[in-house]
Amino acid sequence: MSSSNYIKKVAIVGATGTVGKFIVEELLKLGKHEVTAITRKDSPAASSIPAGVKVAAVDYSDESSLVDALKGQDALIITMNVQAPPETQLQLIRAAAAANVPYVLPNEWGCDMADEQFGKEIFLGGSEVPARKLVEELGKSSWIAVVSGFWYEYSLGMGEQCYGMDVKNKTWTFFDDGETKMNTTTWPQSGRAAAKLLSLPIEPETPGGPSLSSFKNKFVYVSSFLLSQKDMFESVLRVTGTKESDWTIKYEDSVKRYEEAKKRALSGDMTAFPKLLYSRAFYKDGVGNFEARRGGLANDILGLPKEDLDEATKIGVYRDENGLRYKHVDAAK
Ligand SMILES: NC(=O)c1ccc[n+]([C@@H]2O[C@H](COP(=O)([O-])OP(=O)(O)OC[C@H]3O[C@@H](n4cnc5c(N)ncnc54)[C@H](OP(=O)(O)O)[C@@H]3O)[C@@H](O)[C@H]2O)c1
Repeated sequence: MSSSNYIKKVAIVGATGTVGKFIVEELLKLGKHEVTAITRKDSPAASSIPAGVKVAAVDYSDESSLVDALKGQDALIITMNVQAPPETQLQLIRAAAAANVPYVLPNEWGCDMADEQFGKEIFLGGSEVPARKLVEELGKSSWIAVVSGFWYEYSLGMGEQCYGMDVKNKTWTFFDDGETKMNTTTWPQSGRAAAKLLSLPIEPETPGGPSLSSFKNKFVYVSSFLLSQKDMFESVLRVTGTKESDWTIKYEDSVKRYEEAKKRALSGDMTAFPKLLYSRAFYKDGVGNFEARRGGLANDILGLPKEDLDEATKIGVYRDENGLRYKHVDAAK
């Protein structure tokens, strides 16, 4: 099979962003693609784009700058700050269609947004659903949405509002009984998933073999771990060398917690958003366990490695201890 059965040129929005940085690292590690960072011309990102990545500075108020940046690209990966106006992503999608970019990986990288009702309940469907629909309406590109669940080390390190852990005060809030399992993925695994996906042959090389085109207009489900909060707690006990009795444990009803956070968010207090999001995803309906709901994962097709839970937990604990929140660190020090 000739090399034309593989895509070569990949553009990425958010090359230095939270998850984009890991996608770029993995693309460079695989060394199979020519990577271009699409970045705003006044962005502070320009100085930290890694060597080996081309830069296309764009102006979102000038659609031709987007189309020019995307001409000749085989895939566009969008990892964009959630607070960017939703129209920004739609502009990129229109430009990708105008430039005939065959594959768009839209701004997903989290919960299973194939469940549109769930998407509405977590306030994110309003931007993700129209983005996918627009790709289909324009008919020039196909979308592939990467679903990874919450980022594990990030969410563990975000304090009580996400996975319930507050390591400094040794308290943990379990939602319901703390036994509901959900899929969760590390940043490096998220990066590998995107890079490996775009390294698949476009068409199968053997009958029934894996291919990029088989994922056209579909969700790709990947995961590092399937965990309950209690599983995370066990791992935290191991890596911190603490005992259960060293911790103050609280239990909260996930539905009540979600409804309370939703009320705050609807009254304009968006600091309640993480609480709303995570408590809803931990409902007993198992919406966070997409491995069970969707009949498996794409991990094997993509050749994703098994990871060590405690190593990832160490990073989450370190992040919470040091209040890193959105900042990157490569490993627990
Ligand atoms: N699974 C999870 O736990 C989880 C957690 C958080 C977020 N997410 C999802 O991951 C995706 C990416 O989020 P992220 O945290 O990686 O993004 P991010 O780091 O906050 O931002 C990525 C890039 O967006 C660009 N950007 C920022 N503001 C913009 C604006 N107003 N207009 C245009 N571009 C703008 C910037 O690129 P330039 O400066 O180079 O232009 C920035 O580097 C989102 O879909 C989000 O929902 C998932």
